[in-house]
Amino acid sequence: MDIQSIPNHELERLKQKAQEISGSKTEYQNEYSTLLTRRLNHEPIQYIEEFMPFYTVQLKVDERALIPRPETEYLIEIIKNKVVKPKSILDVGTGSGCISLMMKHLYPEAEVKGIDISPFAIQLATENATLNGMNIEFIQSDLLNEVSSSDFDLIIANLPYIPSSEIETLDLEVLNYEPLNALDGGDNDGINIIQNLINQIDHKEYKDFEIFLEIDERFGQKVIELLNNYDDVELIKDLADKDRYVYARR
Ligand SMILES: C[S@@+](CC[C@H](N)C(=O)[O-])C[C@H]1O[C@@H](n2cnc3c(N)ncnc32)[C@H](O)[C@@H]1O
Repeated sequence: MDIQSIPNHELERLKQKAQEISGSKTEYQNEYSTLLTRRLNHEPIQYIEEFMPFYTVQLKVDERALIPRPETEYLIEIIKNKVVKPKSILDVGTGSGCISLMMKHLYPEAEVKGIDISPFAIQLATENATLNGMNIEFIQSDLLNEVSSSDFDLIIANLPYIPSSEIETLDLEVLNYEPLNALDGGDNDGINIIQNLINQIDHKEYKDFEIFLEIDERFGQKVIELLNNYDDVELIKDLADKDRYVYARR
């Protein structure tokens, strides 16, 4: 990457970060050049800045978890418009904790649990809850293996959904810095992990809940077929008019 390919607004953000690190509005050239080199090496701007807003919460972000995407921010908007006062919420594949934190922000009375297979993500999510003064339980768990309760009225899962064969086509920003196990959904059109979650929910006989899944826009029908014993199954579009989410109720 060369400096011409970095947009001006990013250069401005790097300058501000350099000024913040150096504690000076004028003597920040060394810090700026270090940050610029990191960006030229394809490090995502969010990791360099260390913090980012997600809807209305402030998140610490680093290589322990995926950088939350705008599609997931829009999922929060959809949930907010569709769900009425959930009492117990489960966020599967919590990553930075972004969904859990926003759920706690929107529904402060609700009990919120976030689970992730990655201990690093759990650590970051816990730090983010502390940063925002929120009481959320984060558990390291392969899907629902370590989850004892079944008493959830809202389940949200943004699990990995990119087919394994497409991982190497991702941008260097993603490939070289973000945890790939947060993105790689396996070789069955990327729906393996989502399918395992749906099977596990069936097996554990959860009932009286609503579920939202973030998915690859090409495989919505496949995911819908897995939900044949649910009601009101619906594909929902993102802001780019792509079938990005599945809603269902049981
Ligand atoms: C696409 S990221 C989403 C992170 C975050 N929820 C967000 O929206 O930015 C998927 C997350 O699922 C986690 N994950 C992958 N396989 C899992 C499994 N079997 N059980 C629990 N979490 C899993 C990954 O570690 C990763 O943090």
